[in-house]
Amino acid sequence: MTKPLLKVESVHKAYEGGLIPALKDVSLTLNRGETVVLMGPSGCGKSTLLNIIGSLDLPTSGSVDYVDEGISHIRPLSLFRREVIGFIFQAHHLLPVLTLQENVETPLLANSHISKDARETKAAELLEVLGLGAKKASYANRVSGGERQRTAIARALVNDPLLILADEPTGSVDSKTADVILRTLISYTKEFNSTLLIATHDESIARLANRVIRMKDGQITDIEQNKTS
Ligand SMILES: Nc1ncnc2c1ncn2[C@@H]1O[C@H](COP(=O)(O)OP(=O)(O)OP(=O)(O)O)[C@@H](O)[C@H]1O
Ligand SMILES: [Mg+2]
Repeated sequence: MTKPLLKVESVHKAYEGGLIPALKDVSLTLNRGETVVLMGPSGCGKSTLLNIIGSLDLPTSGSVDYVDEGISHIRPLSLFRREVIGFIFQAHHLLPVLTLQENVETPLLANSHISKDARETKAAELLEVLGLGAKKASYANRVSGGERQRTAIARALVNDPLLILADEPTGSVDSKTADVILRTLISYTKEFNSTLLIATHDESIARLANRVIRMKDGQITDIEQNKTS
């Protein structure tokens, strides 16, 4: 049975004092354990919607409610974001002066229940899964774009998030690296019964999803349930 994680209801977002309408009356439900792909042309509102779902930005009107009883009580917002959500940003925001290993450990530093050893092991394991075991001591500004992108994936997963918001996670990598990234994200989602929302232009990613949501000019134009999944 599908169990809802969150509901987006009638979300509108306008930037620049209302001059730029980025989202218009967007409603959707995300369920536990599903992979959902958000597709649409540049500027249609994908990143805006991801940021609002991840509570990095506020809607102009409408609401985002986390309805899963296991998490709806977690406050304050900063703790909620840290404990529940893994973000993969369109620009990956790694800290250049830290090594890949240190970047991946960053989200765990605020959690006093995790020992230094556990933190190091967890980060090293994820880097290994993403094919970066040999590079973990390199600085983030001394590795390739695809290596940085894979590091950002490891950093997003290190907290065992219930919701992974991935904005163009394979935007700037070759097809083999894209495959590693998608396999890692999807297997994580299945293993932890979490929810994966990917914004992308890539139709081949849409085939891997349980549902595909298509957007145009700030609105949802279509939601397809994939038969194969
Ligand atoms: N901070 C901002 N201030 C003003 N306008 C913005 C801001 N962020 C986005 N916009 C505008 O809102 C609209 C939606 O942008 P958004 O970044 O959500 O699109 P997108 O679908 O993610 O595009 P892309 O595929 O290029 O990443 C666009 O018209 C964009 O120019
Ligand atoms: Mg975007």
